[in-house]
Amino acid sequence: MKEALEKIIAEVREHAPGLDNRAAFEAYKATIQGPHGSLTAVMKSMGKVPKEDKPAMGKLINEAKGAVTEALSAALAGIEAAELTAKLGPAIDPTLPASEPVRGSLHPIAQVREEMVALFQRIGFSVAEATEVETEHYCFDALNIPQDHPARDMQDSYYLPDELHMENVGKHADEKYLLRTHTSTVQIRTMLERKPPIRIIAPGRCFRRDTPDATHSANFHQIEGLYVDREVTLTDLKATLDHFVKTIFGAKARTRLRPSFFPFTEPSFEMDFYSPDLGKLSNKWLEIMGCGMVDPEVFKSVGIDPEVYTGFAFGMGIERIAMILQGVDDIRYYYQNDLRFLKQFA
Ligand code: DAH
Repeated sequence: MKEALEKIIAEVREHAPGLDNRAAFEAYKATIQGPHGSLTAVMKSMGKVPKEDKPAMGKLINEAKGAVTEALSAALAGIEAAELTAKLGPAIDPTLPASEPVRGSLHPIAQVREEMVALFQRIGFSVAEATEVETEHYCFDALNIPQDHPARDMQDSYYLPDELHMENVGKHADEKYLLRTHTSTVQIRTMLERKPPIRIIAPGRCFRRDTPDATHSANFHQIEGLYVDREVTLTDLKATLDHFVKTIFGAKARTRLRPSFFPFTEPSFEMDFYSPDLGKLSNKWLEIMGCGMVDPEVFKSVGIDPEVYTGFAFGMGIERIAMILQGVDDIRYYYQNDLRFLKQFA
């Protein structure tokens, strides 16, 4: 029996180190320690050993088991190490420089907004903000927009459920909440908070029930402007907007005011411009914003005396300006988050 055990040990020590994968390892292990394995067979033969020899034989078997287990464990450790290396791939050099990180950039709409805001800040306007959820009062009534105006139609605006309750919006019991349809709401909220002189611009999101197409999006952005003081005149409005257009679209750009109507300004205008440096759009009159002198009714709704103060206001779509500047012919590109589009403005 002793010779048989020594032979098994020698055999395992010689064969095990050559095993190079788990399947071969398990198959080989079974030939030694499995139910029909060689070591198992020797252990089974213990039954036939005379009683007085049993302690010595038992010791030999235990030693043999230990030796075999040790050789097999060493082989298994080698196989596991090889498997890990295969999973990790080749060794790397940690001293090499890292690959370039992917850099983000401002969204093209945000870029144009920032440019416009900075321009107005340089001439003394500060940024004002207000809620996107509004009440009919701030969105319409205070702006002198009558009850039967089409913008107030359920089909044109996003009204919110009556049960909704929002803090600090200041809703009267008989009016509805809606998502603001223009940034002109910020005129009202600002004039209620501060006394003239007031010189603000209000960039922000607006919402209308429009079916999306190349020039319409249900969610879009505007910049509102408001200047209220003693003796603000139409000349101030024209000079401010001329400066805006020439800064954004080039010094050779020209502007014109066309009579129009808005309930919150009197007189009201559409402002158009053209520029010789606009590629396909060069030398065409393009409409870019609504503007006018603040209507006395609006001053009355916020408690400012129209006999003492005058003011001008204007409002324009940021997407419209961005599309002209960036040569984009479909507003929907701005909202698709397609990196091939966005990267062109990075
Ligand atoms: N609120 C108007 C709109 O959404 C734009 C506008 C026109 C704003 C004239 C003004 C303004 O401040 O004076 O179409």
